[in-house]
Amino acid sequence: MKRIAVLTSGGDAPGMNAAIRGVVRTALYEDMEIIGFHRGYAGLLNKEYHQLDVSSVGGILEEGGTILRTFRCPEFKEREAQEESVKNLEELGIEGLVVLGGEGSLQGAMALDGIWDGSVIGLPASIDNDVEGTDLCLGFDTAVNTALESVDRIRDTATSHERLFIIEVMGRTSGHIALSVGLAGGAEEILIPEHEYSVEEIGHRIQEGRNKGKLHYIIVLAEGAGKGFKLAGELEELSGMEIRVAVLGHIQRGGSPTAWDRILGGKMGYFAVRALVEGGSGVCVGVRSGQRNLVPFAEAVSNKELSSTNEKIAAVLAT
Ligand code: ADP
Ligand code: F6P
Repeated sequence: MKRIAVLTSGGDAPGMNAAIRGVVRTALYEDMEIIGFHRGYAGLLNKEYHQLDVSSVGGILEEGGTILRTFRCPEFKEREAQEESVKNLEELGIEGLVVLGGEGSLQGAMALDGIWDGSVIGLPASIDNDVEGTDLCLGFDTAVNTALESVDRIRDTATSHERLFIIEVMGRTSGHIALSVGLAGGAEEILIPEHEYSVEEIGHRIQEGRNKGKLHYIIVLAEGAGKGFKLAGELEELSGMEIRVAVLGHIQRGGSPTAWDRILGGKMGYFAVRALVEGGSGVCVGVRSGQRNLVPFAEAVSNKELSSTNEKIAAVLAT
């Protein structure tokens, strides 16, 4: 394989730059040429790209976001756009493509793999941690640590004022961020899209907690499990506490990646190019217990389950 390409798609994730660096440096080590498409699948469709060399990826390890930019490109879900992209890849002499992104982007990579003779490798990068076949997705560790810092700060003021705080974190369809942040931050309640909850029961538990002497109450709410301000209205009377809401939003997606995400990005990038060299295609490069774990796209995009052990422990420790 002589010429490959890389792109970043969907929501950006801290560590994407470390992964781009890993892909580029490994490709150059393997004597390949490499180009980077701009703005995900939009760059592939519009042939917007540039050649990458050693210095293109210098000094980016500590930077959040993605130097290739990213985009949500609904057009790419259509077969016509996918076929146009295949034509572009062939015209550019590309033999292998590495796609960095979350569950949606990897669905796109799977579609491309189905109609193109070249090789497609997915690299699971999403703060949502919703890709199967890897212990953690790239960016998740940084997002959790960023949100946790806010939870710790909020707890100080929650305790001083003896207030109830609802902290809304990201995760439209998955509760991975909420569960980890809630567990690490000692939240009294963790509300996630995967499970239904009863506001009355939460109100009851808050009363119990107050009877036991809890000075504050922290609810970590995944955005897909409801809206913080609406929940605050519903809990006002039931809790008998003063309530404040903090929506952390995109703060969780930015910032310098943790050491973990820098290392993971480099490893995934290296593993992705090695998979191409070995003739792999249609797979995602996960990392399990530190080792490369290649999983077919169909498996990677199936719903990654939450850790039931962590859920149980979070519930017990909150009592
Ligand atoms: P993420 O990759 O972070 O989950 P999205 O779900 O928004 O983000 O997907 C990113 C992009 O991936 C979409 O804008 C689209 O270009 C492509 N994509 C998503 N789902 C599909 C699909 N089913 N088929 C083809 N392409 C898809
Ligand atoms: O990348 C995933 C994610 O951050 C989700 O947690 C969130 O629901 C969504 O992206 C936000 O998307 P946007 O940046 O388009 O508002």
